[in-house]
Amino acid sequence: MIKPHGSDELNPLFVYDVEQRHALVAEAETLPSILLNSAAAANAVMMGGGYFNPLTGYMNLADALSVAEKMHTVDGLFFPVPVVNMTNEGGVEAGSRIALRDPNVEGNPVLAVMDVEAVEAVSDEQINYMAEKIFRTLDENHPGVATFSGLGRTLLSGPIQVLNFSYFQADFPDTFRTAVEIRNEIAEHGWEKVVAFQTRNPMHRAHEELCRMAMEQLNADGVLIHMLLGKLKPGDIPAEVRDASIRKMVEVYFPPNTVMVTGYGFDMLYAGPREAVLHAVFRQNCGCTHLIVGRDHAGVGDYYGGFDAQTIFDEEVPDDALELEIFSADHTAYSKKLNKVVMMRDVPDHTNDDFVLLSGTAVREMLGKGIAPPPEFSRPEVAKILSDYYQLQDS
Ligand code: ADX
Repeated sequence: MIKPHGSDELNPLFVYDVEQRHALVAEAETLPSILLNSAAAANAVMMGGGYFNPLTGYMNLADALSVAEKMHTVDGLFFPVPVVNMTNEGGVEAGSRIALRDPNVEGNPVLAVMDVEAVEAVSDEQINYMAEKIFRTLDENHPGVATFSGLGRTLLSGPIQVLNFSYFQADFPDTFRTAVEIRNEIAEHGWEKVVAFQTRNPMHRAHEELCRMAMEQLNADGVLIHMLLGKLKPGDIPAEVRDASIRKMVEVYFPPNTVMVTGYGFDMLYAGPREAVLHAVFRQNCGCTHLIVGRDHAGVGDYYGGFDAQTIFDEEVPDDALELEIFSADHTAYSKKLNKVVMMRDVPDHTNDDFVLLSGTAVREMLGKGIAPPPEFSRPEVAKILSDYYQLQDS
């Protein structure tokens, strides 16, 4: 099986030994604590599950700046985005051991225990420098920039031990998986070549067909549909609705035992190209050999060119940085001429009018009014689940 990023074995930071975990939970009650922000909590969940292998904790300022600048830590480890714990809480001392409380679960239980190696002030210039490198913009209207610049001005770094997976296991028991679990399931299936599909949206026919095309063209053994379960910007479809619609699509339209429907606990960054590379890192940690990167992957608004998330792999990711390869997809849509979903690059004789093209806004409006999008665009079973959700919203 493909090796994890940066080490021979996956090293999840979740404390699997039950006795050790109980002892840590008890110890955490005696430690000083801080309340994490959601971004830092999501980083802990990802490190707990092995997704951010080989990191052993939150990056210090020098590493965060270096990773933002050139996707490598000071010591030369390839990593696409800073994994940081920035806070506005004061009073934490370098050399101390602290409990990290979860902002997303009632009562703010302890999510992880941290050995604080450094406490560093981050200047506005450094925040802007990192944001500009990660998001390619400093526009506060960009949801990722707004979140990042509001995280705090004190950076706490050092190793962590993770005690639970926040709300993800309880809220998405059938879908949330750690990278460890996904690796194990892939091994159980006996799959060698596995293509991952990243998504934060329901899957319409273009997405379904992208998975099928990748599977056929790569001669893959299976597809990992891997959806983001964490926080999104307002207006995006909640994870439970997405999950239900994706499960229905897989159940009806894919042969059994060819697709795994799974999710991971991370908040969307909307960092386009950089996030695509992060997606590649953590799918390799899951045991996938390929990742589909299509049009405007992890994008928002008009901040990124349609295929910037593909070119970054050619232009900025060193050849030996990752073992996983990307499956680059062109804009995909239903062709009225050919009566099937195609990639536009494969049908040079087509004009825009030959495709069924609908904007996200148009689809949302239709669904809100109880009008099903055309079957060329959405499977009727998927449209029904989405339409029920939108109508509930509007009522
Ligand atoms: S993402 O933010 O999680 O990337 P989304 O769920 O919309 O967003 O997309 C999932 C994947 O499908 C991404 O790789 C994206 O580039 C790709 N994709 C979505 N729609 C299309 C399309 N019409 N043509 C080609 N690729 C697409």
